[in-house]
Amino acid sequence: MDRIALEGGTPLHGDIPVSGAKNSAIKLMAASLLTSEPVRLTNMPRLADTRLLGRLLQRFGTSITESIGDDGQETLLHTPEITSAFAPYDLVRQMRASFNVLGPLLARTGHAKVSLPGGCTIGARPVDLHLKALEALGAHIDMHEGYVFAQAPRGLKGAEIEFPFVSVGATEHALMAATLAHGTTVFHNAACEPEIVDLAECLNAMGAKVSGAGTPTITVEGVAALKGTDWSVICDRIEAGTYALAAAMAGGEVRLTKVRPELIGILLDKMRQAGCEITTGDNTVTIKRGPGRLKAVDITTEVYPGFATDLQAQFMALMTLADGESTVRETIFENRFMHVPELSRLGASIAVQTGGEAKVTGVDELRGAQVMATDLRASACLIIAGLAAKGETIVNRVYHLDRGFENLEGKLSACGAKIRRIKGDTPVEEIDE
Ligand code: EPZ
Repeated sequence: MDRIALEGGTPLHGDIPVSGAKNSAIKLMAASLLTSEPVRLTNMPRLADTRLLGRLLQRFGTSITESIGDDGQETLLHTPEITSAFAPYDLVRQMRASFNVLGPLLARTGHAKVSLPGGCTIGARPVDLHLKALEALGAHIDMHEGYVFAQAPRGLKGAEIEFPFVSVGATEHALMAATLAHGTTVFHNAACEPEIVDLAECLNAMGAKVSGAGTPTITVEGVAALKGTDWSVICDRIEAGTYALAAAMAGGEVRLTKVRPELIGILLDKMRQAGCEITTGDNTVTIKRGPGRLKAVDITTEVYPGFATDLQAQFMALMTLADGESTVRETIFENRFMHVPELSRLGASIAVQTGGEAKVTGVDELRGAQVMATDLRASACLIIAGLAAKGETIVNRVYHLDRGFENLEGKLSACGAKIRRIKGDTPVEEIDE
């Protein structure tokens, strides 16, 4: 397995182009199953997760052609016919989001057999809301031996669906399925994340009739068939936020390009409160750490537009060097403090309390050490911390990072970071989100 070595203490200077969003790209790829016509996705991030989902789609009969165009990587997905509606455990367990193929397969063919994804390092992450929504749309669901067997031989039917709490994945999943249902579906308490808007707009470009995406109430008028389209993947707000925090941590001045600043508004507010100087343009954000030490700022993760759970670990890394004590509250996942013991290895002072809360007491300096990445965003937090730590930090298990950050070493070293990948001999066999 590869490792990343960082020599901390060099300020960052330069531009970082933000890639297309992983968490949108993989849902858009799944949505391509809804039509027999080609769907061309541009601004596609090159990631382990998109490659993995591509392998799964190929099992269903999707042909995938990749090329480079004016809008970055292009992926052409074409599924003239679903040749198999079976998603095996080995592929689904490696990436939870691949469970979201269930709805499109069911909507298109009337049946599907998809493995349950299992738990992961950040929490139990059940899929009960996904299944209840599909049942409400008229699917008959059975579970045997870790598989979901779903059937709707006469097609799905529109319904009124109230999610008991907000789930990004369940909203996206049910939204895709509802596009081909007979009649109208109304979702209440739907997630409002920008990736949902991206998915809904792409579905509309495919001929779907979705309105209200980005608000808690989404209405879908089912149509008989969807067509192909060209779609540019929305920018990755989590990648953008991660590099903004990296710049604040390492010092210097970094300009993010190809970004929509409003998608990381809350993060930028918190960074300003901490003492960062931030200016935004149409598609740019410039981050400069202000003079003196950063101030401690509290955060609480929330559904969009609140503070993103996917930036919690990275923000915590910044707070390890702030002046004073900050409270980090995690409300989305029950076990998302796995990075705390690793940050402590670098000299951070963090106490995890009951109820999903951590108290971070800023220290004068971090010192390089060997650390272990436990999940995607935890890996990013350790990289950020390593950029500021004195001496060498080695981040082990960086395959997590390759799932969600395109060319991270290249982007950071172009800004002067001393970062290199140490190639490992051992193949990556086990990948858990
Ligand atoms: C998406 O996960 C993202 N993943 C996550 O990013 C992100 O952290 C999360 O949304 C929240 O923003 C992808 O888009 C691929 P949820 P998702 O359903 O859809 C519980 C990353 O690092 N829940 O909104 O799985 C669940 O356990 C990843 O890129 C149920 O109980 O998140 C969690 O506590 C990590 N039953 C909460 O809801 C369900 O059926 C919110 O989860 C579904 C969810």
